[in-house]
Amino acid sequence: MKKIIIPVLVCMLVSCNQSKTSNGTSVFEDAKVENPDELEHVAQELVAPPYLPKYDQVASGNPVVVEVTLTAQEKKIEIAPGVKIWALTFNGSVPGPMIVVHQNDYVQLTLINPSTNTQAHNIDLHAVTGAMGGGDMSLVNPGQQATFRFKATKSGIFVYHCAPGGMMVPLHVTSGMNGAIMVLPREGLTDENGNPVKYDKAFYIAEQDYYVPKDENGNFKEYDTPAAGFSDIADVMKTLQPTHIIFNGITGSLTGKNALKAKVGDKVLFITSQANRDTRIHLIGGHADLLWPGGSFNDKPLTNYESWSVVGGSAVAMMYQFREPGTYAYLNHNLIEAFLFGAVAQIKVEGEWDDNLLKQISKADKIK
Ligand code: CU
Repeated sequence: MKKIIIPVLVCMLVSCNQSKTSNGTSVFEDAKVENPDELEHVAQELVAPPYLPKYDQVASGNPVVVEVTLTAQEKKIEIAPGVKIWALTFNGSVPGPMIVVHQNDYVQLTLINPSTNTQAHNIDLHAVTGAMGGGDMSLVNPGQQATFRFKATKSGIFVYHCAPGGMMVPLHVTSGMNGAIMVLPREGLTDENGNPVKYDKAFYIAEQDYYVPKDENGNFKEYDTPAAGFSDIADVMKTLQPTHIIFNGITGSLTGKNALKAKVGDKVLFITSQANRDTRIHLIGGHADLLWPGGSFNDKPLTNYESWSVVGGSAVAMMYQFREPGTYAYLNHNLIEAFLFGAVAQIKVEGEWDDNLLKQISKADKIK
């Protein structure tokens, strides 16, 4: 009898509590309704990934209206030696900048489409509650701008992307027009036991798949305008076989001299998005100490994962505390995509080596 009662009790206390959020309220309960017209407005200065803008991990005071401006930039970039594409971007980087707010803050977003551009653009944020995720309200032709406001009701990390309609949706997304917004719980992150946990630094690493057409000799083609390549790109997209799978838009942007930096003892929040395609991430020589699958901060984090899934159209957060120095690889553990395509980042970690965790007993030598 005891054998049956104990698992049932554990279930009641822990895992069967799925419909409640971490603070005990149902996800179907509406948050207190604020009047955004009476709230303080705060402008957020966005920065290019892998870095995040200035923000507090724990919100102080009432919700605010966070004002952000994104500018659609169509620009030619070299994604690998000799391979030049018309990148469609938010603010000029692939991925676009990370926006950071707290749950129940409002985001007032202005999208600018300069007259020098050639395409209509918009933004659909997965953090939005409401039809089209802001896509309809933000659709702008070259020479236009539009502003809309939404309440960040759900905590977590969410992808945003351009979605101007039809074939242009995957075409703009796989040309670089995607990014992520982090909606932190107002009280900050909590660990697997529900205790507050802070991180020392955060990196935003997005995997990007590109579909670059080739000529009859097998060389990658270059086009004079974005539209000139659309038909050829559509043919490559239909194969579902990317020609490039890389991190942060340009081959080598997070390796070698561009490697990320941390110190032994640092707790690092790694955020990875994939706006179009599934991937699976692994940190060689480390683990996901805390993992928020699907990027949801509303759920208790999982612990000690070796590899984790990032479903296409989502962003996932994991926190790891480095215990040993050295150069770590953070990669797509489809190892073909990591080593033959380049879906890999490096983190150079400084500090003192701990023999107790890992020690060489004898170096490679002749078999005795
Ligand atoms: Cu676009």
